[in-house]
Amino acid sequence: MNATVTSTRTTLNFSAGPSVLPECVLEQAARDIIELDGTGISVLEHSHRGPAIDRVFDEAIADCRALASIPDDFDILFLQGGASMQFGMIPMNFLPTGSHADYVDTGSWTSKAIKDASTIGDVRVAWSGKDDGYRDTPTSADIAWTPDAAYSYYCTNNTIYGTQCSAPTTCKTPLIADMSSDIFSRPIDWSKHAMVFAGAQKNMGPAGVTLAVIRKDFMSTARTEMPAMFRYGIHADKGSRYNTPPVFAVYCAGLVFKWIQSLGGLDQVAEMNNRKAAIIYDAIDGSDSFYTGHADIACRSLMNIPFTTPSPELDAAFIATAKSAGMSSLKGHRSVGGIRASVYNAFPEEGCLKLADLMSTFAASHRS
Ligand SMILES: Cc1ncc(COP(=O)(O)O)c(C=O)c1O
Repeated sequence: MNATVTSTRTTLNFSAGPSVLPECVLEQAARDIIELDGTGISVLEHSHRGPAIDRVFDEAIADCRALASIPDDFDILFLQGGASMQFGMIPMNFLPTGSHADYVDTGSWTSKAIKDASTIGDVRVAWSGKDDGYRDTPTSADIAWTPDAAYSYYCTNNTIYGTQCSAPTTCKTPLIADMSSDIFSRPIDWSKHAMVFAGAQKNMGPAGVTLAVIRKDFMSTARTEMPAMFRYGIHADKGSRYNTPPVFAVYCAGLVFKWIQSLGGLDQVAEMNNRKAAIIYDAIDGSDSFYTGHADIACRSLMNIPFTTPSPELDAAFIATAKSAGMSSLKGHRSVGGIRASVYNAFPEEGCLKLADLMSTFAASHRS
């Protein structure tokens, strides 16, 4: 059976993040905020070292591993500081003096990662889409990897520009992926990666936790001369509880992992996401050029869909019309403008149909 997400909520939330969460997760979380598992204590009140939270962490890790078929030679860590913290932690741990790292620059988030890594060591940009307004992503053959990089870095989904790419096949050095805005929207090829990380607040749960999945042999190469909180090895040794962790965010991520499994897993969810995004892309492509998508067709994101009408005034009118029809957070990111529809896993398919309907009636009544 096809995976599908429905909703009883009156507002459709197209936010890029924090973003829509599955209704059943919110309902379970609301119950467990009052009392977790008959313990008489809220999930927010339990000690992070007690048996109830041991169970929360153990289950979240086991469910995450099962959901994404994460091999046993990868550690699963729950960290703090957002995905942005990883921009610094990665070079602090994996970029030794005298070496360099290769970065693929596909948008604002990779630019920030490059900027942060440059404060730690030597960074080489192996491909950049900057001159083209970040409308596309490279094919594997386009990327000028160096054979002796300490690691190589790319982002699978560019939240702001609405572009997506698969793992490059040509990289010969340890490959690190920022999957903040498309993790668990499709299967992940672990054989191509040494590390994957993602902030939770798009496809995984509320803000406050960042998932890092790191191959053990790669982690063992990390530098150690830095404060404990920056060391992946310490977080791995301490089961992501070196200090007080963001228990509630980890607990919600655990519920989301179970929910994705209940939809049939990542293959099913990928099919659903293809179907959902196609509804909106068809509305753009069938609009006789009234709407223009930002991304090149070959690398369109299934998660974030930025587009424009013929003028900024019409963009604003579209967003206002959508808002009065119960569609929230459609304003594009300030660096791209226009409209952006974010349709993560938990966004209902009927919401895509409603947006496409609105696009069609709006274009018909505003076409000059
Ligand atoms: C692809 C990507 N990477 C990194 C980040 C930064 O995430 P955080 O706000 O958790 O630091 C974002 C935020 O939207 C993102 O979309």
